[in-house]
Amino acid sequence: MGRAIGVFDSGVGGLTVLRAIREKLPHEATVYLGDTARVPYGSKSPEVVARYSLNNARFLLQHDLKLLVVACNTATAHALPALQAALTVPVIGVVEPGAQVAAALTRNGRIGVIGTAGTIASGAYQRALEAAAPGATVFASACPLFVPLAEEGWTSGDLPRAVAERYLGALRGSVDTLVLGCTHYPLLRGAIAEVMGPGVTLVDSAQATAAAVAERLAASGDRETGGDPSHLLYVTDIPAQFPSIAEAFLGSRPEHVEQVDV
Ligand code: SIN
Repeated sequence: MGRAIGVFDSGVGGLTVLRAIREKLPHEATVYLGDTARVPYGSKSPEVVARYSLNNARFLLQHDLKLLVVACNTATAHALPALQAALTVPVIGVVEPGAQVAAALTRNGRIGVIGTAGTIASGAYQRALEAAAPGATVFASACPLFVPLAEEGWTSGDLPRAVAERYLGALRGSVDTLVLGCTHYPLLRGAIAEVMGPGVTLVDSAQATAAAVAERLAASGDRETGGDPSHLLYVTDIPAQFPSIAEAFLGSRPEHVEQVDV
């Protein structure tokens, strides 16, 4: 395979980012690592998340990478500067692209962001939103149960709707734009949209990140414009329900998955 885009996440949620990258850049080879043995990252300390993130990046760098995407909001929040300092390839996280799209979309300057406990406690989105939309009012809320719901494939019906109501009821009416600041949340988009109402624009950082990757490759002259690239998928554990959950996130059944230690 030629020089590839490396992508890592704490588990399968980052497949939403991988999917967006593959759709936006169909001629780019990709290598994905999901740290399914150690998911979730959202409840772990910043130091542990940073250490896992460096492990993941070093594993992916055994391949010839042109760029690395941190497709996990929690890892981006806790480890992006450390990764950018330690690695020689460009590293793109999911926080800044999502914040920039939200800043461009808000009409009243009242922006919400939801994510894991770790992401919200880090303040990374709050800082990125304040930088992208100076003067905006930012409302941040952790929604820890959304990750297990998505991992279980429990993404529609009464239960996710009730959980979304519990987490987001207080935000309704306060914001016109809501950033889905966790890779798992796009799968719960229906329940989140129902609770927030039609006046609220949901921002999925997967699309925004794919656009940022495309822009970065175009700027450095590294964008592939032809060819049928290969895609490698690695995970650190293969739980029984992995193929069906991965299919829900990726939009197609993964062709070949290899289990590795990092
Ligand atoms: C997690 O590992 O807890 C969720 C992934 C994310 O923060 O995007």
